[in-house]
This record gives sequence, structure tokens and C-alpha cells, in this order.
Amino acid sequence: MRAVVLVGGEGTRLRPLTSTVPKSVVRLVDRPFMAYMLEWLARHGVEEVVLACGFLPTLLREELGAGERFGLRLVYVAEPEPRGTGGAVRFADEQLDGGLGERFLVLNGDVLTDLDLRAQIDAHAASGASATLALVPVEDPTAYGLVRLDPRGAVTGFLEKPRPEEIDTNLISAGAYVLERSVLDLIEPDTNVSIEREVWPRLVGEGLHGHAHGDAYWLDIGTPRRYLDASSDILAGRVRTAVRERLDGHGVARGESCEVAGHVHGPALLGDGCVIAAGAVVGPGTVLGHRVRVEPGATVEGAVVLDDAVIGRGSTVRDAIVAPGAQIGADCSVTGGAIVGPGVLLGAGNTLDHGARIFPGVELPDGAIAF
Ligand code: GTP
Repeated sequence: MRAVVLVGGEGTRLRPLTSTVPKSVVRLVDRPFMAYMLEWLARHGVEEVVLACGFLPTLLREELGAGERFGLRLVYVAEPEPRGTGGAVRFADEQLDGGLGERFLVLNGDVLTDLDLRAQIDAHAASGASATLALVPVEDPTAYGLVRLDPRGAVTGFLEKPRPEEIDTNLISAGAYVLERSVLDLIEPDTNVSIEREVWPRLVGEGLHGHAHGDAYWLDIGTPRRYLDASSDILAGRVRTAVRERLDGHGVARGESCEVAGHVHGPALLGDGCVIAAGAVVGPGTVLGHRVRVEPGATVEGAVVLDDAVIGRGSTVRDAIVAPGAQIGADCSVTGGAIVGPGVLLGAGNTLDHGARIFPGVELPDGAIAF
């Protein structure tokens, strides 16, 4: 079976992490985010994945190649201009020899999940639906597409980003669809079409079904908060991924040539060549990329610090993201979901909190921001 994965969005909500690389190849724990999706699809017997890109996929190609290491074939399709979530599927169909086939999968490219696609495909075949949406329960559906079902699983209503007073179910669309070819006829060619806003409403009562995945793990990694949650959930094994196998009995994975004089408390993952100085602490739920240096007396906890970043003497990085090559000076505090962008130089004694975002190229002098 073929699957189209939509990866053409700009990922604006994850900036500055996505200022220099597309969301799908942003590193999540120890691999590009898309690797999790591809491993999950391969486990469900998908043989070919079409990556529907909104712009030239050079970086994606470099990172993911032809797909052999994931056990499937990767095909890259680049839209001449962004076509929207529906238009991208139609465009992909037109670009492929033989099209997408009679039945295929469509996936949003920013979802970390282990839901049982096989069960959904079986339910789709049994019901005779033209489209079956994966549904997952969430506490607050206001940021998602709320889906109402009748007792037979037919969708009776689809509300994109509902207002609080409209919420009468906790089931939302998880961005994973099984489609029959006939759905493509509802998408005008060469046009920007949203599958959520323009296609699903037309299919309500006309063969649109939902399949509820009650106990699956599901997270849209599109915001810094959820990116951090995804990292700690992977380390803690709350979602089934290949990363868990790398952790030792203390829940720690250490890359090659690490020098650890300080303390590391699992679950935590250190890339190759990390240096943890004496008196430094790497706490639970932390990911360090390759060649990260944590200087004496510094603490990193529940945080993601990517390749070649430096955490200065006595600094604290907690519940925050430090992008590749960023340097945090001495005695800084970076907490509360803050993101320090690629290559940023943060002078000594700065305090970042409350989701602060520092964009690439910025150099903050000593003590520039102190709350
Ligand atoms: P934000 O800018 O942060 O909202 O991110 P986004 O645009 O990546 O996410 P959104 O939730 O709007 O899109 C859902 C999925 O569809 C994501 O995986 C996007 O990459 C993808 N997507 C959105 N628009 C397009 C498009 O025009 N073409 C393609 N190929 N994919 C798209």
C-alpha cells in the first residue's frame, strides 16, 4: 500500500527550530522526526511513501535518502506552489506512474503516534467507506478537528477548531486517513484545497467514517511545548519507538567518546562526543545531541540541547530547547519552554523564561535579559 505524507507546511509554530531546517527533519531525540513516522508506517506494511513537499526537498533527501534504512521506498514530490493538504494529495497522484492506487493512506507529517493503522484499514474495508479518519481522544479539542460519529462509525459532523460551547465529544481527527480513489474527484486539480475544510465536510453522510483509537499514543509535535513532551515521552517509553532499545538499565543511552565527570540521571540520551564536566548534572528527560558541552556546575533537566551547543558554567537549562551550535554563557537560566535558536550566543547572566524565542544570528550581551 502507498502512503502520502504531507510535509509541505512551514512549521511556523516551531520557529526558530524550523528557521533553518524543515519540521520533518528537525531532530527528535536521536533521529530526524520523519524517521519515527517512516518506522511506524513500515511496521504496518507500507511499502512506498510519497513525501509531498511544498518546496524543494533537498535537505529531506539528504537526511532520509531513498528509504532503504526504514524498510520502504521513498518518493519525493515537490509542488510548484503550496497546494494545501488536499491539493497536495491530488498533485502527488498526478505525479506518480499509475497514481496512488485504488486505496491509499494520507498522513499529516507532524504526528508522533503508534496507533494501529492495520485495524483502521480493516475497519475501512469492512464498512465500505470512501474515507476513514483515525480518531483519538484529547482533553481539549479546540485546537483540532472535532469529529462526531453515529453508532455505526459514520461521521455526522466535522468541526475544524471548535469553540468551547460546540464541544460534545473528545474525539479529534488524528491526521491519518485511509482513502478510496474516488475522493480525489472532490479535489480540483492545480488548486489550493484544504482536505479538512473543503473535502471532509462534503463527504459527511456520503461515506466519511471514523475509527477511534482509544489507547494509542498520539501527539502533534508542531509546537515547542509538544516537541519537549514528545522527547520526554520517547525517553520514558510512553510511545513505542526504536529509541527505547538504546537505553541501558538506568534509562541512559550514551553515544561514543563521551567524557562524563558529572552526573547523568535517566531517562536521558547523550549523543557522540558529549562532555559533562565535574559538578554538572544532566537530569531526567534530557536529550543532548552530538558534541554538546555542559560546563562545571551547570544543570540540564527535562531539556533538549542539540549538536555542538555549549551550556556555560553554573547555568540551568530546564524545560527548554537549545538549538544546534548555540552557546549559553555562564550563570544563565533558560527555562519555561524557551527556545534558543541555532548559533545564538547568549552572554553570561541572562534569564529566558515563558516561552521566549531567540532567533538565529542573535548575540545577547552579558546580563541583557534578567527578569
Ligand atoms: P504551522 O506553520 O506551524 O501551522 O505548521 P504546518 O503548516 O506545518 O502545519 P499544519 O498543521 O497547518 O499542516 C498539517 C500538515 O500538512 C503538516 O504536516 C504540513 O507539513 C502539511 N501541509 C500543510 N500545507 C501543505 C501544503 O500546501 N502542501 C503540502 N505538501 N503539505 C502541507
